[in-house]
Amino acid sequence: MTEQNISLTIDGQAVTVPKETTILEAARSVGIDIPTLCWAENLTPVNVCRLCVVEADNSKALVPACSRACDAGSNIETNNERVTKNRRMVLELLDSANDLSQSEELQDLMANYEADSSRYSDNLAAHDEPKVEDDLFIRAYDRCVLCYKCVQACGEEAQFTFAIAIANRGFDARVSTEHDIPLPESACVYCGNCIGVCPTNALQFKTEFDLRSAANWRPEDQEVTETICSYCGVGCTLELHTQDNEIVKVTSPADHSVTSGHLCVKGRFGWEYVQAPVYRPPSAIQTDAAVDD
Ligand code: SF4
Ligand code: SF4
Ligand code: FES
Repeated sequence: MTEQNISLTIDGQAVTVPKETTILEAARSVGIDIPTLCWAENLTPVNVCRLCVVEADNSKALVPACSRACDAGSNIETNNERVTKNRRMVLELLDSANDLSQSEELQDLMANYEADSSRYSDNLAAHDEPKVEDDLFIRAYDRCVLCYKCVQACGEEAQFTFAIAIANRGFDARVSTEHDIPLPESACVYCGNCIGVCPTNALQFKTEFDLRSAANWRPEDQEVTETICSYCGVGCTLELHTQDNEIVKVTSPADHSVTSGHLCVKGRFGWEYVQAPVYRPPSAIQTDAAVDD
């Protein structure tokens, strides 16, 4: 062990990691997974959801694994009864106040932790209508769990646009543009980095929204093809999600060294020309008509 490393125990396993490693990173390095919601590998932890709590023998309260650095010699339990009960309660409270039906990850966690939100009253954020303000993406805040990821991605973690922030406090807290003005009138540059990090589909591509509305969103039939954005010399890696041979959305891998999952408006949304209707000059149409006669 060098001076820069520390040792601790996680679920009975001895672990040695560099100083400042978080409990989450240390646990994952030995194959122990801890659920997260507000954490993302391409954002700094904001520590607001408390889904990742674990028990540490040197702390009275449960500690957030995503942001708490490992302490030398500590003993961590990631999945005991107290931890499980807390995670179940977090999931139930989230489910009682939000529509989580489009988050496969949260649905799986709810099932694994046997979360049943029916014992809480339904506070679903007034079943807000989705904000459909343009052809690129929609915002449906009754699915928003206030994880702050979109705000971070729009701000100093990626885009530095600061078009959105959390407005109000307590039960009235919500993601908002300045003075709640429509997105097209705000500072938004339509990079879509907020959509890329949203864990609940509160933010989603208009293409996905339209296909879901037509009961034709079929992730099981979709393919993902990696390619390089051709708009500029940065060469961002794009993942083209296709269904029925048409692009339905574009993402970028969060662990990619060039993009860290973030794109600009051209890479994210500038693909519609690929499937534009074929242009036929008027002369060709006249020729066709003559042939028909
Ligand atoms: S599309 Fe980009 S600029 Fe617009 S709100 Fe989302 S992150 Fe901010
Ligand atoms: S809109 Fe999505 S990313 Fe933004 S705070 Fe809500 S759940 Fe998180
Ligand atoms: S993932 Fe750790 S507090 Fe949200």
